[in-house]
Amino acid sequence: MYRTHTCGELRIENAGQTVTLAGWVQKSRKLGGMTFVDLRDRYGITQLVVDAHAAEELNETATSLGREWVIQVTGQVIERQSKNPKMPTGDIEISLSEIKVLNKANTPPFTIEEDSDGGEELRARYRYLDLRRGPLQRALRIRHQIAHEVRNYLDAQNFLEIETPYLIKSTPEGARDFVVPSRMNPGQFYALPQSPQTFKQLLMVAGYDRYFQIVRCFRDEDLRADRQPEFTQIDCEMSFVEQEDVLNTFEGMMRTLFKNVLNVEIAERIPRMSWYDAMDFYGSDKPDIRFDMKIHEITDLVKGYGFSVFDGVDYIGAINVEGTASYTRKQIDELTEWVKRPQVGAKGLVYIKVNEDGSIKSSIDKFYTPEQLQAVADRLGARKGDMLLVMCGAKRKTQNMLGVLRIEMGNRLGLRDPFNFAPLWVVDFPLVEWDDETQRFYAMHHPFTAPKPEHLELFYSDKKEDLEKVCANAYDFVLNGTELGGGSIRIHDASMQERMFEVLGISKEDAEYKFGFIINAFKFGAPPHGGLAFGFDRVCSLFGGQETIRDYIAFPKNNQGRDVMIDSPSYIDQEQMDELFLESKAERENQ
Ligand code: AMO
Repeated sequence: MYRTHTCGELRIENAGQTVTLAGWVQKSRKLGGMTFVDLRDRYGITQLVVDAHAAEELNETATSLGREWVIQVTGQVIERQSKNPKMPTGDIEISLSEIKVLNKANTPPFTIEEDSDGGEELRARYRYLDLRRGPLQRALRIRHQIAHEVRNYLDAQNFLEIETPYLIKSTPEGARDFVVPSRMNPGQFYALPQSPQTFKQLLMVAGYDRYFQIVRCFRDEDLRADRQPEFTQIDCEMSFVEQEDVLNTFEGMMRTLFKNVLNVEIAERIPRMSWYDAMDFYGSDKPDIRFDMKIHEITDLVKGYGFSVFDGVDYIGAINVEGTASYTRKQIDELTEWVKRPQVGAKGLVYIKVNEDGSIKSSIDKFYTPEQLQAVADRLGARKGDMLLVMCGAKRKTQNMLGVLRIEMGNRLGLRDPFNFAPLWVVDFPLVEWDDETQRFYAMHHPFTAPKPEHLELFYSDKKEDLEKVCANAYDFVLNGTELGGGSIRIHDASMQERMFEVLGISKEDAEYKFGFIINAFKFGAPPHGGLAFGFDRVCSLFGGQETIRDYIAFPKNNQGRDVMIDSPSYIDQEQMDELFLESKAERENQ
């Protein structure tokens, strides 16, 4: 046996026992002839001590230890003279009688402590060292716990975990596919699944009425803090259900996760908001409802009074940023520059302050009477000390910019505490959205989402305006401004699925080539079904109080989609290329 205990285990009750520990040297220091060593494993840190009077050989070994050496030690647990209340093992230390060096280590390129001195790139290159640090260990632990709780909950609800293949045919989820050439089928490619969407629907046809899978998905898309090219979903599907059944089942799952992982009670019923309200009042399909600051339209109050900027647009909206009337000219100028950055894209920003004395001060004083501005303040419920921020332009675009500004002001005012959890269902999404550039409709969720039964007439209409009005029984689970999951009630009728492809401008032949298998399956007794998928990495990061998912994945990719530790992607040998019937148009670097 290499060890009798872990480095996080020993307490004052163990005093007097002889123990053997194994782990990594966190640090070692000499103090008045004694040598102290912090020994670390994933359970904690235990202090080791070698007495000045100990055997010479033991003393020599103790002083020679370098950071991250792997050692095995034996000694007696003793009460510490100066206790460290911050460490669970802080009451004791091990007075060593033996040290065995199991493996020496190069000096690590950065400090392996709670806060490392290593930059992101360096830590990514030595991910296995970064993973030794506390924050990453805690992140992977929470990931494990959540997966465990998900399996327990779904198992108790009769869900079966069933694996689906990774080498498949493209499933459209709105991103590009990663593809894999087939050696045995020259010139042909598999696609890696963007999600198991079609397979889980086929499992419903097969009668497995409650399916789930904690499954890797692959999407070749622009990366962000909450997006990785390979990520994990908690993917679920149910038969003989309506939207309400799906929402209740997964509300229950999230409630259980909050309770069992974080000991947080969430509302008995998670609030629901229509997609239209989310866009109108929050400028986003994933509203952060931890704070109010809703967007209000004020077009009717300020358009047509001779202020040309407002007179020339369709939509004028505002948010009330409470308690910021004291903002200085300089602060407002800085905020104006902030909204003009390309990431936000506003042309400018108008403010209306309600001063502490009740008077109104605005950047558009010249064009409006105080009464007119007061009417705007009243609509937004502004009180003394508040400031309204106003933007104008095309409706959805302006709402979106106001939404971005709202989040920024929420951040600046400290209204976005990561450990205050405000979940929300966004429901009633439009089925399709028109794209001006390609002059066609795209599925808002995916092409397997069913129109609401009450909108069927509009769905079969040939008019663009009618199709734009069709809503779907589609829903997103939103937490603190992040889309954690999404799903829908599906089409289960072959002819309706064919109609959907037609609406999306996919020709009959193309639909047959790409999706013939599912249309055909629907002809063999497909039950009504629906489901959803949660972004598992996102659930983990938000539970850990972080917005970026990278540290909740053991071996993530960087923003260029590279794994800098194993240096991938990389070139393959010509021989391998030939075998796969591939020729590259890209210049090879360094070859
Ligand atoms: P959707 O495309 O909305 O739905 O994905 C479901 C959830 O997966 C997470 N997610 C991601 N997480 C990290 N990196 C990414 N690149 C990434 N892309 C998506 C999000 C998202 O809410 N098949 C449907 C589900 C269904 O209809 O049942 C689907 O995949 O948290």
